[in-house]
Amino acid sequence: MYALASRATRGVSLMCGIIGRVGRDDAIESLVTGLENLEYRGYDSAGVAIQNGAGIKVEKRSGKVTELKHALDYGSLDGEVGIGHTRWSTHGPPTDENAHPHTDSTRDVAVVHNGIIENYASLKESLRAAGHTFTSDTDTEVIPHLIQQYLDEGLEPEAAFRAAIEDLEGSYAVTAMLAGEHVLYAARQGSPLVVGLDEDGFFLASDVPAFLEYTDDVVYLEDGDVVVVRPDGIEFTDLAGNAIDRRPETVEWDPEQAGKGEFDHFMHKEIHEQPTSLAQALEGRLDHDAHDVTLEHFPPGTFTDIERVQFIACGTSYHAGLYGSIAMNNAGIPTTTHLANEYEVSAPPADEHTLVIAVTQSGETADTLSAMRHARDQGARVLTVTNVVGSTATRVADDVLLIRAGPEIGVAATKTFSSQAVMLLLLAQRLSQDLTGASLANLEALLADLQSFPDAVERVLETTDGRRLATQYLGCQSYFFIGRGLGFPVALEGALKFKEITYEHAEGFASGELKHGPLALVTPDTPVIAVFTGQEDTKVLNNAEEAQTRGAPLIAVCPEDHQATTIADAHLPIPDVTPELAGLLANVQLQLLSYHAAAGLERAIDKPRNLAKSVTVQ
Ligand code: F6R
Repeated sequence: MYALASRATRGVSLMCGIIGRVGRDDAIESLVTGLENLEYRGYDSAGVAIQNGAGIKVEKRSGKVTELKHALDYGSLDGEVGIGHTRWSTHGPPTDENAHPHTDSTRDVAVVHNGIIENYASLKESLRAAGHTFTSDTDTEVIPHLIQQYLDEGLEPEAAFRAAIEDLEGSYAVTAMLAGEHVLYAARQGSPLVVGLDEDGFFLASDVPAFLEYTDDVVYLEDGDVVVVRPDGIEFTDLAGNAIDRRPETVEWDPEQAGKGEFDHFMHKEIHEQPTSLAQALEGRLDHDAHDVTLEHFPPGTFTDIERVQFIACGTSYHAGLYGSIAMNNAGIPTTTHLANEYEVSAPPADEHTLVIAVTQSGETADTLSAMRHARDQGARVLTVTNVVGSTATRVADDVLLIRAGPEIGVAATKTFSSQAVMLLLLAQRLSQDLTGASLANLEALLADLQSFPDAVERVLETTDGRRLATQYLGCQSYFFIGRGLGFPVALEGALKFKEITYEHAEGFASGELKHGPLALVTPDTPVIAVFTGQEDTKVLNNAEEAQTRGAPLIAVCPEDHQATTIADAHLPIPDVTPELAGLLANVQLQLLSYHAAAGLERAIDKPRNLAKSVTVQ
């Protein structure tokens, strides 16, 4: 089995799917198949561009690939060279205009892109000054205009493509075609791109499943690679044009399984995607030189008229809100957290000096939307932290902070939780400066640990003992998760994940609460899973010991040399980082524990009974 996580999905960008075809047969059918196969990477809009005798023909639509399929006039789309794209928005809502492929004004250049062009605003400004006009809100549209600009300046097509690529900052997998040529140009930096080779030509794609019906011979491109693909051959070069050696390999995947790669379930894949989704969430948002965070749309001073913060959210997003609120309260920002479905019935006072932060990965949760509208009616400023550009929450809110986790297919939220929590830590820094005039107390350590956080998560994934422990403790009567401070929302989230996918009874508690009632339930058949973040760990350990004394097996989630390991019956290790991030590493261990327990019980992990990904009723 090929290691998808370490090659195809590691490196930035899970969002959007690219497909390209250069061959001796009509491209459109394989492009549409490719888009359908890539929908797990994004599904808010889709499009294709085909090189036919009359130039480049583009068709694109908001919505799923089926919408595009219905709109296609296959008769006008005959041609052997083409590109396609299925999108998960990061810049601009999912409209027809923002869908890919994007072209320059003359439609001589068409481009599909996956990733984030960080310097797109300045590139757009200089292109505008040179007379280019833009029709979308996307960062991608600058690329065809740049290529056109270099063609106008007299460069040959390949040189124009390379020059445009050199201008880009950020992460990208880019595939471009020029009118009148039977060639595709592609480049990779930080976003995956793979070449497929069959008897009749070549594919370019974000991921192998795109073309697995046609070929299993692939070449994985590396960062900095540029390829020029013609029907009869492909050149692999670096950005400067020097030839490089890239060897094909054969993947052994079943097409049915392919969207999940080497994993049996999307949930497991998404847990393993966290190093990538977190890198993506953090990209361009840490400013080490300025000892600050850089949140687009939220420069310093954005929140100076705010006096208090209220979180509203449901389920896992509520736990992320609780996590953010602890960080904010610790920074001296008056913050409360409310279940969105309870917010209106026991609404705390809110006015124009109140920032209400609605945390919702889908942006469509009816309870959260209703609470947002209520908060707005009170005059509060409403900010949503979401994964879905153009979702209802982004339209109801005054401000939007995107978590950039990429699509999450498994019903149980995993990678979106970690990205939500990390974004809230960054927001805590901005609010702390604006409301108190001071940065977070341990900002330096936090910035340093955030920088290497994706690697720390990777270490947890590589070294976890979650499967063995899940098997060892399978079939117990109940599972109790405990934590204190930042460990408390992690305990709640650990229990929610466990119960929702295993159907076994699990509860999360503030560790200090055990002795106020729940201890009566503790027996040798109720493992206690204790989360240690480095905040008041001695108290958590005392509480855990009280349960252990009553016979409960104790599983400690903590660093290797932690005092808890000396008494615990089992240990799930995490790297030693600041408390703000230790809880999130512990959460990855708990996600894995739940996953392996549910797998052992053969549950419907990606679609647990009675649950839906997006809850649009109150
Ligand atoms: C649990 C889970 C749910 C959601 C909740 C809110 O794994 O996914 O608890 O967190 O339904 O959904 P969003 O974040 O879309 O508002």
